Amino acid sequence: RIVAVIMVGGPTKGTRFRPLSLNIPKPLFPLAGQAMVHHPISACKRIPNLAQIYLIGFYEEREFALFVSSVSNELRVPVRYLKEDKPHGSAGGLYNFRDLIMEDNPSHIVLLNCDVCCSFPLPDMLEAHRRYGGMGTILVIKVSPESAYQFGELVADPVTNELLHYAEKPETFVSDRINCGVYIFTPDIFTAIQGVSTQRKDRATLRRVSSFEALQPANRSLPTDFVRLDQDILSPLTGKKQLYVYETMDFWEQIKNPGMSLKSSGLYLAQFRFTSPHLLASGDGTKNATITGDVFIHPSAKVHPTAKVIGPNVSISANARIGAGVRLVSCIILDDVEIQENAVVIHAIIGWKSSIGRWSRVQASGDYNAKLGVTILGESVTVEDEVVVINSIVLPNKTLNVSVQEEIIL
Ligand code: GDD
Repeated sequence: RIVAVIMVGGPTKGTRFRPLSLNIPKPLFPLAGQAMVHHPISACKRIPNLAQIYLIGFYEEREFALFVSSVSNELRVPVRYLKEDKPHGSAGGLYNFRDLIMEDNPSHIVLLNCDVCCSFPLPDMLEAHRRYGGMGTILVIKVSPESAYQFGELVADPVTNELLHYAEKPETFVSDRINCGVYIFTPDIFTAIQGVSTQRKDRATLRRVSSFEALQPANRSLPTDFVRLDQDILSPLTGKKQLYVYETMDFWEQIKNPGMSLKSSGLYLAQFRFTSPHLLASGDGTKNATITGDVFIHPSAKVHPTAKVIGPNVSISANARIGAGVRLVSCIILDDVEIQENAVVIHAIIGWKSSIGRWSRVQASGDYNAKLGVTILGESVTVEDEVVVINSIVLPNKTLNVSVQEEIIL
């Protein structure tokens, strides 16, 4: 049997995701009409003999209650949220719930970061992992050498796929193969984490009885039960025939800011063509709006027949109202948004209950990595008629009656 664990983190980690994280935990933000964490959960469904899916984080339990019950029902697989009393790090959080995870007596544990967008090739990875015969297999992807420094960079044996060297976000270039935050482990991972914890505790005791701490002030900051998977566990285990890599040729992105969530939403919509074509809107029939490319429209949303919804990458959430002559290109429209006649939205995320006036334009350059490359409106923002908002971020509850460009409206 197999147990899957998705690390969802907690609110302190969500600052880069503002203003969207003011309303909703980042893992629940909708991409292609489904919560960010729904995508890895559906991917876990494809694993044979899956017993359980745990989400581990330090958000309040009630924030996940509705989601876990509805996704358990929908996918017919038990999903449970486990709350840490404080952050224990990516490996410490897992270790904290080892007894519960081991209750199903799993042969393997699939461990996933929640903030990655990926095709999650889990059954193929599992097969490779069994072939390698190690303790863990890490999903890797080739990225451009200029962008690799933002991730864990790793070097593997080209023949055996054994992980030989690991450097977490290094300052100088090591490798263009990076850690995707998708792993398969045997339960031995718990012994490895315990080893690091024990070492830490011993060192802490040593510090208390000697002047060791004064010599190594950097060690003071990490609590003994805080264990990071990358630096503390993976790195020391390289070159010991314990860790292997599996390279994906498919898509992968990390979702740390709202711009990347728009890009990821588009990648998931494109994947729906193969995995869930029924979720994509089709533009047939003369009475319907014009729809081009990959588009998701929630069944409760109302789109005027003269609107032009132009994908790829438009996602319209529940109860949104899209007026006559509106043009939508590459955007996420959240619940209860109203877009009035002839308004245009391009490369933007429109927050819950916001309203865009007639002949207004909300747009951006579409450079997903730039700070203002996607225009973001927080919850309940009003853009009045004929106002133009370009490359800007607007915090909740603001009313814009003049045009703005390259601005953060606090
Ligand atoms: N429950 C829990 N508790 N989750 C945590 C904690 C914690 O204390 N700390 C981090 N996480 C979760 C985050 O929500 C995220 O899903 C995952 O663990 C990894 O987060 P970080 O440890 O902050 O690392 P990162 O995202 O900057 O980088 C990691 O992932 C990259 C791939 O996305 C590293 O492993 C990189 O090497 C890797 O490239």
